[in-house]
Amino acid sequence: MSHRVYIFDTTLRDGEQSPGVSLNIGEKVQIARQLAKLGVDIIEAGFPISSPGDFEAVRAVARAVKGVTVAGLARTNFQDIDRAWEAVRHAEQARIHTFIATSDIHMKHKLRMSREQVLEAAVAAVKRAKGYTGDVEFSAEDASRTEPAFLFQIIAAAIEAGATVINIPDTVGYAVPGEWGSFIETICREVPGIDRVVVSVHCHNDLGLAVANSLAAVLNGARQVEGAINGIGERAGNAALEEVVMTLHTRKDRFDHFTGVHTEEIYRTSRLVSTLTGMKVQSNKAIVGNNAFAHESGIHQAGVLKDRTTYEIMNPAMVGVAKSNLVMGKHSGRHAFRQRLEDMGFALSDEELNKSFERFKKLADKKSDITDDDIEAIVEEEMRLVPHTYTLDYLQISSGTTVVPTATIGLLKDEQRLEEAACGNGPVDAICRAVDKTTGINCTMISWGINAITAGKDALGDVTLKITTDGQRVYTGRGISTDVLEASAKAYVNAVNKLVWEVEQDKKAEQE
Ligand code: KIV
Ligand code: ZN
Repeated sequence: MSHRVYIFDTTLRDGEQSPGVSLNIGEKVQIARQLAKLGVDIIEAGFPISSPGDFEAVRAVARAVKGVTVAGLARTNFQDIDRAWEAVRHAEQARIHTFIATSDIHMKHKLRMSREQVLEAAVAAVKRAKGYTGDVEFSAEDASRTEPAFLFQIIAAAIEAGATVINIPDTVGYAVPGEWGSFIETICREVPGIDRVVVSVHCHNDLGLAVANSLAAVLNGARQVEGAINGIGERAGNAALEEVVMTLHTRKDRFDHFTGVHTEEIYRTSRLVSTLTGMKVQSNKAIVGNNAFAHESGIHQAGVLKDRTTYEIMNPAMVGVAKSNLVMGKHSGRHAFRQRLEDMGFALSDEELNKSFERFKKLADKKSDITDDDIEAIVEEEMRLVPHTYTLDYLQISSGTTVVPTATIGLLKDEQRLEEAACGNGPVDAICRAVDKTTGINCTMISWGINAITAGKDALGDVTLKITTDGQRVYTGRGISTDVLEASAKAYVNAVNKLVWEVEQDKKAEQE
């Protein structure tokens, strides 16, 4: 008999805990909508008690997505659980996910609680959550380093208290596949009541084994896998969901398991998560990396041309990596552009389409062949979700080996042009200082990086940078242009717009 494996996506919670990642409400909702389209079963939208912003984001996701369960994370204390419920209650299907650490190391050093206290807290939390919703998940944090007898006891108690999903996390990515598989098998065999619940795993990637461990667990009885798109998450990240799904799909000879994921949406989802989190996908990343379906050596190319299956175990189209042969250039009209966007799966408003088309035309004057990657970059930039409080009107740079780098910048705000000039240690620094002078907001740049979207001298430069004003909240900005300094200015202005918008949202929330 074939087994259904539920896919629990924690990109918006554990994934957002990746160092330097911070998503605003609009970004979370956009990713959640795409996750629903992808066909994941559960979206863990955040940790509502952790901040007012996270609470609002979980609430917005719960209201926005349909056909998928929305989960909110909570420690075992009642304030956490009540807050999680407040955030998810408007979801079509709402889940409360409560957790407490069960390993001796965590109980002694982090919680300073005895086993009895932890057990009692877990049971009380599950009962509290159960008072709100029938769908309650309990996680024994650091389960892989928990003494088995105690783990079995707390799982049995959580089931008895009403938990419907039992999650066994390898919180620190310590497990190895054979050991982890038999651990899950023992839990599925030994723990009283375990046959009444869904057994889940949540594997971290500290040893690069998160996907292998998740799959070993599936072979041994786990029916829910938790992970994140592109494998993002705390430290080395979570299990990469696209890899789990495609392994189950591709190796049906070894796995009698299936998921509800629409695999053709994988690539698009990966790109969106990468764009909005600012976390680049490494080129050789399985399934979604730029090189995942690229063939470099002559022997490989010849083989693939004769028969794709010589060197490809998956059809790229199956994960949505189909590229068009249609060349777009300066003679392409609005109709062809719209058609191309539709083929690529973008649904744009008329305003977004007009702006994207304008950008496309400008780019076509500078670059002869425009690829799908170029188009995707333009569209993603136009679809930025915060209001464009400031837009870059013009930029002038004076720089060289013997002059002090100076930037003069014009920004538009409410149809008014604001202009300032500043010097800096380099041209990018000068640009940032000029923007700061113009907006009156002093930001610190934490990181700056550039990627070429396509090959060649006329390639679009894709700048991603992160800024902060208080060292706490980080705003990611992205800008693209054939001119890297212009791309930097756009990225900086994009990050500032996010900051301005979030401050406005905070003010509104305070007034309510
Ligand atoms: O890694 C972990 O243990 C977690 C839990 C909250 C499930 O993220
Ligand atoms: Zn985790």
